[in-house]
Amino acid sequence: MAAIVRIQNLVKNYYMGDVTVNVLKRIDLEIETGDFVALMGPSGSGKSTLMNILGCLDRPTSGQYFLNDRDISKLGDDRLSDVRSRYLGFIFQSYNLLPQYTVVENIELPLLYQGINLNAQTKQRCIGLAQMVGLGERLDHRPLQLSGGQQQRVAIARSLVNDPNVILGDEPTGNLDSKTSVEIMEMLTGLNKIGKTIIMVTHENDIAEWARRVIRLRDGHIESDVRNRD
Ligand SMILES: Nc1ncnc2c1ncn2[C@@H]1O[C@H](COP(=O)(O)OP(=O)(O)O)[C@@H](O)[C@H]1O
Ligand SMILES: [Mg+2]
Repeated sequence: MAAIVRIQNLVKNYYMGDVTVNVLKRIDLEIETGDFVALMGPSGSGKSTLMNILGCLDRPTSGQYFLNDRDISKLGDDRLSDVRSRYLGFIFQSYNLLPQYTVVENIELPLLYQGINLNAQTKQRCIGLAQMVGLGERLDHRPLQLSGGQQQRVAIARSLVNDPNVILGDEPTGNLDSKTSVEIMEMLTGLNKIGKTIIMVTHENDIAEWARRVIRLRDGHIESDVRNRD
């Protein structure tokens, strides 16, 4: 399979006054289209920094990042947000839903941010996504009327609204109990089976076991990279 993500010699520094914090230290990484990757490593090892770069929320200090064979390391903000909305879906530990909006409105949000006109067709699509994640009976509920697991399902539906190739999750089960975590992992596995590439950060071994490949970061380096199964 072709690599959907190709990272070469990637360095990320943060600058704090006179101090340079070298967080990612010349990382090379390829991720195949359709793979399911868990990114692990101790707190502070650079997982979120790498995810933010993968997700086009931040740029590398140096080195290359090719997404779908396109070098996006040096794109400007507008191009970057275009890439983001076209190819990437995001799921966060804290769901990041807007409390005043309903389930369907939260799923519609990425479209709104892209300046797409909401109409009967886009609404129907969002209702379909809500149904797909098992929230067909909760379309008009607001986040606070939902359990954590249900809120994360809304976030998964929202991440799918642009039909992305890649879904990025930063500790998507971090706030959930183990039974609900299994439901969310089953959902991500289902999305992977229909061809979505999944890259998720976790610090839990039993969550990482759902992935096909486990990459461990330590001090800004890739410490290990193993396949769970084929
Ligand atoms: N915006 C920032 N400015 C300065 N240092 C940062 C910033 N973001 C993260 N760091 C530092 O980079 C290192 C890696 O952080 P992070 O990628 O969040 O690690 P992880 O997600 O693995 O816990 C940490 O030492 C952190 O303090
Ligand atoms: Mg983190």
